Amino acid sequence: MGIFFGGGDMAKHRKEDLIVGVDIGTTKICAVVAEATEHGLDIVGIGTHPSRGLRKGVVVDIDATVDSIKHAVEEAELMADCEITSVYAGIAGGHIRAFNSHGVVAVKDRDVREGDVKRVIDAAKAVAIPMDREVIHVIPQEFIIDDQDGIREPLGMSGVRLEAKIHIVTAAVTSAQNIVKCCNKAGLNVIDIVLEPLASAAAVLADDERELGVCMIDIGGGTTDIAVFADGAIKSTSVLGLGGYHLSNDIAVGLRTPFEEAERIKKKFGVASARFLSSDDIISVPSVGGRKPREISRKILCEIIEPRIEEILSLARQELIRADLLDRIPSGLVLTGGASALAGIGELAEEIFESPVRQGIPSSIGGLQDVVRSPMYSTGVGLVLFGLSQQRSAKPSSFKIRDGSIFGRVKQRMREWFYSEFD
Ligand SMILES: Nc1ncnc2c1ncn2[C@@H]1O[C@H](COP(=O)(O)OP(=O)(O)OP(=O)(O)O)[C@@H](O)[C@H]1O
Ligand SMILES: [Mg+2]
Repeated sequence: MGIFFGGGDMAKHRKEDLIVGVDIGTTKICAVVAEATEHGLDIVGIGTHPSRGLRKGVVVDIDATVDSIKHAVEEAELMADCEITSVYAGIAGGHIRAFNSHGVVAVKDRDVREGDVKRVIDAAKAVAIPMDREVIHVIPQEFIIDDQDGIREPLGMSGVRLEAKIHIVTAAVTSAQNIVKCCNKAGLNVIDIVLEPLASAAAVLADDERELGVCMIDIGGGTTDIAVFADGAIKSTSVLGLGGYHLSNDIAVGLRTPFEEAERIKKKFGVASARFLSSDDIISVPSVGGRKPREISRKILCEIIEPRIEEILSLARQELIRADLLDRIPSGLVLTGGASALAGIGELAEEIFESPVRQGIPSSIGGLQDVVRSPMYSTGVGLVLFGLSQQRSAKPSSFKIRDGSIFGRVKQRMREWFYSEFD
């Protein structure tokens, strides 16, 4: 593997070999450093730090976020023995909007050339986007030549009429700018901004699931990210402003206990539904304001958790119904994100969706895969996988930026993302 850790006189990693993802989450910020190899990616470092500057996946305190990013990045640098300068950053939050669009053009020269593909995607992209929103992904789903649909690579094929179906993701300009600003202030260039559900899906879904039809749900601290794939292509993405934080907050209020205690009790004793409890234990709950701890039944805890987790999963189901995809996911559901570790969540999701459910943890990576084998790291690992696919598809290499026009350039690159579908 040729990787040396903290190796005194050993050479540091060369910057070009490394791909770094920074997942700016609501509860933690996580930097993942990976090295591109013949077979894919080796994880060579990871750093995490609690996140204090976000609400529901959106930056609300720049200084606190910059501080957390710096800590996470420093830790990852130490572990990977490298210097991090450029990163892929994740974006999520309730401001994300995604929709499908399509365009048609006449093929100029009987055979489909690059210019035709560019024109048809431009035609499909020609929808009115409000001034305060920015396109962050344009992902081709399929091409149709004359009457033949389901074409993934139209280049070189013969035909007279070329049609493209694409998935467009937009974000609030200010939220995207704040992510870039935070990274810059932490001394990092942003190569690209990546939608978190797409990153998580890249880390946890298998190709055959994507072919058959699958729904990935990443339940984090402040957001629940949803991505649906069928026929190997992305069909829908969305972000809900609810997550594990809301569960803990309900417990804190319901049991009148400090938030940190609610968080601990949730992880240790929480179950998605009281129906899944085999025996009803008694647990001790610390009180606020110096009052004595109280003894409560675990069933009561679960009765607080159940409606909230049911709300989150039902809203995710509604997103599927809205996109008309509920019957397009024979592979079922893949749950990931920190809150997917809640006991009984798989069973509850199986009941709500009437579909098979599995937990997703980052796979198809090498190196220090053990340290990232947690549903919390799906987005971080997905960001480096995304970076790899971008670099392998011979896109213009990362640019050096640390000036005022950075966002303009990021936008420019985003617009060039015709082939950002990654696997
Ligand atoms: N064993 C567990 N049981 C229940 N909840 C858990 C468990 N472990 C972690 N969590 C919850 O997972 C959440 C954090 O998940 P994660 O690290 O994926 O979020 P994040 O990426 O920081 O946030 P977001 O993606 O929403 O911005 C917290 O709410 C935490 O309480
Ligand atoms: Mg997250």
